Amino acid sequence: TIPKEIKIEGRTYQTDEWMNTPSSILSAIPRRLHLQPDHPLTITRKLIESRFPSYKTHNDLFPIVTTGQNFDSLGFPLDHTGRSRTDTYYLNKETVLRTHTSAHQADTFRNNESEGYLISADVYRRDAIDRSHYPVFHQMEGARTWDRRQAEKEGKTLAEVIWDDVVRIPKHDIAVEDPNPTFHAERNPLQATHSPEEAEAIAAHLKRSLEDMVVTIFNAARSATETNSASENEPLQVRWVEAYFPFTSPSWELEVFWQGDWLEVLGSGIVSQPILANASVPNRIGWAFGIGLERIAMLLYSIPDIRLFWSKDARFLSQFSEEKPIRRFVPFSKYPACFKDVSFWLRSSSNAAGGAGSAASPTSSATPATTFSTPVPPAAPLPPSFHENDVMEIAREVCGNLVEDVRLTDEFVHPKTGRRSMCYRINYRSLERTLTNEETNELHEKLRGLLVQRLGVELR
Ligand code: PHE
Repeated sequence: TIPKEIKIEGRTYQTDEWMNTPSSILSAIPRRLHLQPDHPLTITRKLIESRFPSYKTHNDLFPIVTTGQNFDSLGFPLDHTGRSRTDTYYLNKETVLRTHTSAHQADTFRNNESEGYLISADVYRRDAIDRSHYPVFHQMEGARTWDRRQAEKEGKTLAEVIWDDVVRIPKHDIAVEDPNPTFHAERNPLQATHSPEEAEAIAAHLKRSLEDMVVTIFNAARSATETNSASENEPLQVRWVEAYFPFTSPSWELEVFWQGDWLEVLGSGIVSQPILANASVPNRIGWAFGIGLERIAMLLYSIPDIRLFWSKDARFLSQFSEEKPIRRFVPFSKYPACFKDVSFWLRSSSNAAGGAGSAASPTSSATPATTFSTPVPPAAPLPPSFHENDVMEIAREVCGNLVEDVRLTDEFVHPKTGRRSMCYRINYRSLERTLTNEETNELHEKLRGLLVQRLGVELR
């Protein structure tokens, strides 16, 4: 039933056995939520852009890219889990829906149109289903680079030129914890082609710029939630932690203490020099960051469910305005939830599954995916195995936005046969109306049928 050829906004793609992108995902492409007037993602994007006035913005880059753009140009190892069909939507072996805005780094550096740029776009990942995960979300990428030859012309070192720019970044007065050294030989190495002075200057520019942005966002969020508990009015606390990305080194994440928890807000680092060299700008050097827009918008407005961003309901959309100050979202009444369980035996060939990406991997945390920061062990060659994301995908396909979350509630291996049994709990709920019994029964039956058909499981 997979079409040989698909046409998306006038472009044609040949599919092959790598194709795993359902039409429900493809139909999200034309929405471009981050460009919709008065949409909370647009307002969030513009708020961030306002802190980088000299950076060139790119907001309409096409979401279908090559594996070269999405992975190879960024130095992803061949066995990185991000490349697997359980995590990424493929049209064919070489063509994917971008999984992050970093897919455009190399091309944007190659065009070399500006010292700083910001790229906002929809990104696509196969993932868990819950109130903070949706297979389509939005990211903003930012980068700032300097030309070594320019510094030479000015008779300065590159580090001096960068420090001149650092002092121009607006000051803030929040507490920043930054306990680690800028780079560390084992944990967070300096690149061989960079001097310690250069890395220190770039790191200072990166940190001051991103702190300024985050302070702006969280001050706006706090004035939106003003009338709330005292904890929200405590002084803002942020901290830098060491991170890992295949395309930056050293790398850091910025976390903010928000409503009692440390929240990862963005990933960043010093751009790997081979990316710049391969993009024909070997003399440039600088930093990049990536931030998830949904997570920021959810806390700016207290939006409780990520599906709401896709709503066309005026009760949602009418609450946001680019002209008015940010105000807390007032949820319209919550419609009743309906839980249903589905239990099944895996095909016996799947029982041996283990290691990265197997059924045993924990479900994602309660915050939206932002980064690929976890270094992954090389994936063991596995037999064709069960992956939880396949269950998630089928649930999305059957239910669209009528499913709130899907959770593994039980799993066991039969002591005699060695077969593995799984039980998932599906929470059916619409954000816009009450679902009828018949409706949820019908969805659940369909879901059960597709699990058997696609995954070859045996219902219990
Ligand atoms: N692209 C990374 C992600 O989605 C975030 C990132 C961007 C990290 C740029 C460093 C530099 O996980």
